[in-house]
Amino acid sequence: MRGTIIAGTLAFVAGVNAQYYTNQSAPFNLVLTSQNTTLNGSTLGSCHEGAAIEGLCVAGPLSSDSSNYTFNYTTASTTEPTGLDVTGLLTYLLVGGNFEESSPLQLDPVVTSNVAVPLFQPSDEGQMVAFDDNNKLVILRSSDDTKALPNNDSGAISNWYACTTDSGYVYQTLAWVVGTESAVPQNPTCQKVEVVRVFV
Ligand SMILES: *[C@@H]1O[C@H](CO)[C@@H](O)[C@H](O)[C@H]1NC(C)=O
Ligand SMILES: *[C@@H]1O[C@H](CO)[C@@H](O)[C@H](O)[C@H]1NC(C)=O
Ligand SMILES: *[C@@H]1O[C@H](CO)[C@@H](O)[C@H](O)[C@H]1NC(C)=O
Ligand SMILES: *[C@@H]1O[C@H](CO)[C@@H](O)[C@H](O)[C@H]1NC(C)=O
Ligand SMILES: *[C@@H]1O[C@H](CO)[C@@H](O)[C@H](O)[C@H]1NC(C)=O
Ligand SMILES: *[C@@H]1O[C@H](CO)[C@@H](O)[C@H](O)[C@H]1NC(C)=O
Repeated sequence: MRGTIIAGTLAFVAGVNAQYYTNQSAPFNLVLTSQNTTLNGSTLGSCHEGAAIEGLCVAGPLSSDSSNYTFNYTTASTTEPTGLDVTGLLTYLLVGGNFEESSPLQLDPVVTSNVAVPLFQPSDEGQMVAFDDNNKLVILRSSDDTKALPNNDSGAISNWYACTTDSGYVYQTLAWVVGTESAVPQNPTCQKVEVVRVFV
């Protein structure tokens, strides 16, 4: 029954023709930087969390086996924009037995935790992200609700951590701590990391 529902979902996704973020960057690997020398330099690799669902697991050092990702964005210009001027979707090509599906990274926090696990799932919607001038993965804020609203206190936030998570399986994965950059992850295994793209 579950298989039937998933097959139906994939058929529906494949049927969506008005995809918006159709400009795609060159492929890149995702590499962690961290004060912890064990994590520093580790890559992130796609790992199975459920049917057609992948997490971003802490994987080995950079190699030709490292998972490839792309950045899907939209632009009318013919030169690839850089830095915080462009937001888009982080995408992973999920290859199944009889299908290939470009899946965007999504962040769906669970309301009982401030540690959200990013997952790739077939969809035409996902979490908007950006890469700063140093190729660091960030999420942009349009206002700051710790101050009086409305305000235009925008910013690039990097609340990435490597944590032991359970979104189907127990792995050490990338996670996002919900809130400001001073938010403390309630999951005690979380270690602060930054995520940097390195073009293949
Ligand atoms: C990303 O862009 C590629 C190339 O245009 C496209 O085939 C793919 O469907 C896009 N993925 C998403 C999730 O929009
Ligand atoms: C992490 O790795 C980078 C690149 O190899 C290096 O420059 C940096 O000093 C390392 N940081 C720590 C805390 O080991
Ligand atoms: C560094 O990371 C490794 C792997 O997650 C962990 O086993 C170790 O305890 C960490 N070291 C420190 C000092 O936090
Ligand atoms: C990533 O892309 C490179 C260059 O196209 C390729 O050599 C490598 O095999 C790819 N890695 C994976 C895991 O598919
Ligand atoms: C983005 O896609 C549009 C439509 O295909 C194309 O005209 C434009 O040149 C592309 N821009 C870049 C930077 O690839
Ligand atoms: C935020 O920016 C918009 C667009 O520039 C402007 O119309 C609005 O007045 C600004 N709001 C505040 C609270 O500064």
